[in-house]
Amino acid sequence: MISVAIDGPVGAGKSSVARESAKRLGFIYADTGALYRGVALYTIRKGICDGDADYKEKVEALLPEITVEPKLIDGEQKIFLCGEDVSEEIRKPEISMAASSVSPIPAVRDFLLDLQRNIAKKNNVLMDGRDIGTVVLPSAQVKIFITASPEIRAKRRFKELAEKGVDTTLEQVLNDLNRRDYQDSHRAVSPLKMAEDAVLLDTSDLDFEQSVQKVTELARAAAEKE
Ligand code: DC
Repeated sequence: MISVAIDGPVGAGKSSVARESAKRLGFIYADTGALYRGVALYTIRKGICDGDADYKEKVEALLPEITVEPKLIDGEQKIFLCGEDVSEEIRKPEISMAASSVSPIPAVRDFLLDLQRNIAKKNNVLMDGRDIGTVVLPSAQVKIFITASPEIRAKRRFKELAEKGVDTTLEQVLNDLNRRDYQDSHRAVSPLKMAEDAVLLDTSDLDFEQSVQKVTELARAAAEKE
């Protein structure tokens, strides 16, 4: 099996580039952020917020009740939370922040680890997240760290949200992005960082097609070696 691990900060274009690259390669695309978002949505529905006293303990106590299942439907990953399709709901900005808040909790990371590894055991996969090359799939044949400047990432994210009709401003998006970048890269467990053997792909000056070309080239080269 070939595994391509793609990590990087918010709005670097990871998921759109990874989704299209996986399609061209005939690989499964696994969006691991969606799993953290599923857990986050559950905590919000239970009225638990970051900043609550005993936040970590409250989230941990909920884990035994939660099932998060990624299912491939017509080639697209859908996320089922306790049997309910929440693929749309987990994209809301408040869920983004909450996912960043639940993700430093070691029990949450453990809870989702095997799920992620099992996907890669059974399929050629292009998996994106924050710790795929460093923790989840350390033996991936290809590791790519996708990034771009914060301003460019915020603009892309803002456009994406505006197209979905989400009411926000570029300034708000840049603030959220900086906060999430900070939280994601400063947590004690599995922080966002580039694996030593990863290829750095800065997409600030690349368009979507160029980014996809680069990822598919790297994956094809690895597949030929196998
Ligand atoms: O990729 P995303 O924006 O959907 O991820 C949402 C949050 O989940 C992100 O802020 C950090 C967390 N996350 C993580 O800690 N590890 C991953 N492999 C993927 C996401």
